[in-house]
Amino acid sequence: MPNAYISGIGGYVPPDVVSNDELAKRYGIDTTHEWIHQRTGIEERRYAAEGVGSGEMGYYAAKKALENAQMSIRDIDMIIFATLSPDIHFPGTGCLMQRRFTELFEGDMPRYVPALDIRNQCSGFLYGLAIGAGMVQAGTAKHVLLVGSETHSAALDMTTRGRTVTSLFGDGAGAAIISATDDPKRGLRKWQLGADGRGAEALCMRVWDITKRPFIDTPNGRDGVGVIPPEIMWPQMDGKQVFRNAVEKMCMSLMGVCFELGLSAEDIDLFVFHQANMRINQYVANSLGIPENKLIHNIHKYGNTTAATIPLLLWEAVETGRLKPGMKVAMSAFGAGYTWGAAVIDW
Ligand code: UT7
Repeated sequence: MPNAYISGIGGYVPPDVVSNDELAKRYGIDTTHEWIHQRTGIEERRYAAEGVGSGEMGYYAAKKALENAQMSIRDIDMIIFATLSPDIHFPGTGCLMQRRFTELFEGDMPRYVPALDIRNQCSGFLYGLAIGAGMVQAGTAKHVLLVGSETHSAALDMTTRGRTVTSLFGDGAGAAIISATDDPKRGLRKWQLGADGRGAEALCMRVWDITKRPFIDTPNGRDGVGVIPPEIMWPQMDGKQVFRNAVEKMCMSLMGVCFELGLSAEDIDLFVFHQANMRINQYVANSLGIPENKLIHNIHKYGNTTAATIPLLLWEAVETGRLKPGMKVAMSAFGAGYTWGAAVIDW
């Protein structure tokens, strides 16, 4: 059985930087830099321009990952696209991103690379990693392109009413190539995933509800036109519940994978945590005795970029020389669903 390792990594963030102060200035939200920074560690985030979606940003990140792996899209056997902010309801954004690679369809031998969308929110990258690595280890794919991409800014309540959720999220994309190798020193060693659907309403966006007639509930007008109430239109969150569960499940899954591998915090070179709130990560790190110098962060500049967060962190760690082959990396994430996971890779 081949090992599945990450042979290439890439990322993309849109150029528009929105500071905490600008949330107040640009959108008139009653908030302050101090409130957001003190409670979350966020200083600024990026917003995609109107017309740009998760498929496009995912394409830019995927191109960088392919370049980093010195591969062409024609080498890829499978695309996995993780997002909670798809371009349209269907088809999946994986297909919409795939068709941007026009070289797949040129010449006499088109490459109809399959594209799978997954909906696992902040844990999307780890769920995708487990699926992609499984395909590589089973010998059904040699190279899998895994993308996490989010365009939150189009779907946030940019008013004081929505400030708790709105101040947290930003846009961006990350991508990784999962490849087969015979090198025993490299590869994904273990992963653990979990879900608890009982927490679904603690963080959700219900604008598409197929149990309703029509599917977009317009209680103020049943004849096809009406007003969508804000609690249906925008994401809703019980922040304290999510916070508590994030700390508990990130610790649990991280301890789970390390225990199965017989590893302690000293054996890990780099911890890559999902970035939802700096305080969540500090709790996890303190509980598990992880020193600050083994952690990397990007929450201060990007906020929570959901499925894009972990590949963006890995990309920057590789670019800056912080992450090198031979290092042991532990990752952990928690998000809506609830869903969570952890994984250890020998980079
Ligand atoms: O990937 C998973 C995604 N999400 C998370 O992991 C989020 C987890 N939860 C959290 O990070 C925290 O719950 C938050 C940072 C979101 C909120 O912190 P909190 O300590 O739970 O604050 P709160 O929601 O209880 O709000 C406290 C006060 C409220 O005012 P009152 O009712 O006490 O007068 C809020 O209206 O802070 C107010 N507030 C704000 N004030 C200024 C909420 N958001 C803001 C804001 N600016 N952006």
